[in-house]
Amino acid sequence: MRRLSLIDAVSMSGNEIIWIDQTKLPFKEKYVGSSSVSRLCTAIKRLEIRGAPLIGIAAAFGIAAAAANSDAKDSDALLRELKSTAKRINSTRPTAVNLQNCINRMMKKAEELPSLPKKTMAKRLREEAYRIKDEEEKASASMGRYGSTLIKNGDVILTHCNTGSLATAGVGTALGVIRTAYASGKNIKVIACETRPLLQGARLTAWELKRDSIPFELITDSAAAYAMKNRGVSKVIVGADRILLDGSTANKIGTYALAIIAKEHNIPFYVAAPVSTIDPRTKTANMLKKIEQRSPEEVLNVLSRLRIAKDANALNPAFDITPGSMISGIITEKGVARKPYQKSLAKAIRGA
Ligand code: MRU
Repeated sequence: MRRLSLIDAVSMSGNEIIWIDQTKLPFKEKYVGSSSVSRLCTAIKRLEIRGAPLIGIAAAFGIAAAAANSDAKDSDALLRELKSTAKRINSTRPTAVNLQNCINRMMKKAEELPSLPKKTMAKRLREEAYRIKDEEEKASASMGRYGSTLIKNGDVILTHCNTGSLATAGVGTALGVIRTAYASGKNIKVIACETRPLLQGARLTAWELKRDSIPFELITDSAAAYAMKNRGVSKVIVGADRILLDGSTANKIGTYALAIIAKEHNIPFYVAAPVSTIDPRTKTANMLKKIEQRSPEEVLNVLSRLRIAKDANALNPAFDITPGSMISGIITEKGVARKPYQKSLAKAIRGA
């Protein structure tokens, strides 16, 4: 087995949440510690903490930290406080359903504990947050095992954004599949899209691949069609922020374009995501409303260093939606779901 070098991107120490500030990577490995919910919300909005499963885990730690640091006089008052904390954290980013799911789970736990002393309640919430993290870590490992059965020696895999241990707990989702296949001895090559405007591919995925010594080439997003036609790409594997029951998948902007190019070149297109990313409630018609629109400044101001144009407008959707019909398979911790997704994803949710 080849060794992998994983990062613990978010955790707790005492009553503080600790995270690696991803906006500083790969230039600086800076860890931040704070017990403040406002500071956590800023970190999620600024993408210091990012990736669908990771923001869910961070939100769970946020609720645990809020309980531990609260001055509420009794558990009823604490519950009221936590409800408002939950609302604030939930409003930070709208697309990844993991955020909402983890917050709901933490609040359900809190509501089950009202007769306990405040300190015990805080302790139980911290345990629940660690359970969520542990489950995500196990889900990543399992996705890695199922996904790597799809990967052959010699595969050239194109991926987008960052889906490694900076985006969840453990090996990651799409990058977790790639890493697990590499660790098991398969000789593969990765083509990583840079992922404009915030360069999660160029800054974060390249950094993680380098740490593991996995061979890769970085491309600009606009070189994806060239790479699929001319560079032997045999699979595309990406992550997800929200997957509807029909397989429609919201993921980092540019994913839909990759699916279209892959279809044109008959290249299998896979999504890797834990069951916690599946949203059985949202209807396809409402999915567009869940797409986060970020500041035009991110497009106009490259890494806050190069101002592209004065007084120009920019469109900056953070995610797009790939129809389920274009996805060859959805790799979850329960196995690889295939079409029709209504049936296979419902089965994955039931845990069958
Ligand atoms: O805006 P980001 O960096 O949070 O977007 C992240 C992605 O789009 C990832 O592909 C997705 O969250 C899956 S991560 C395991």
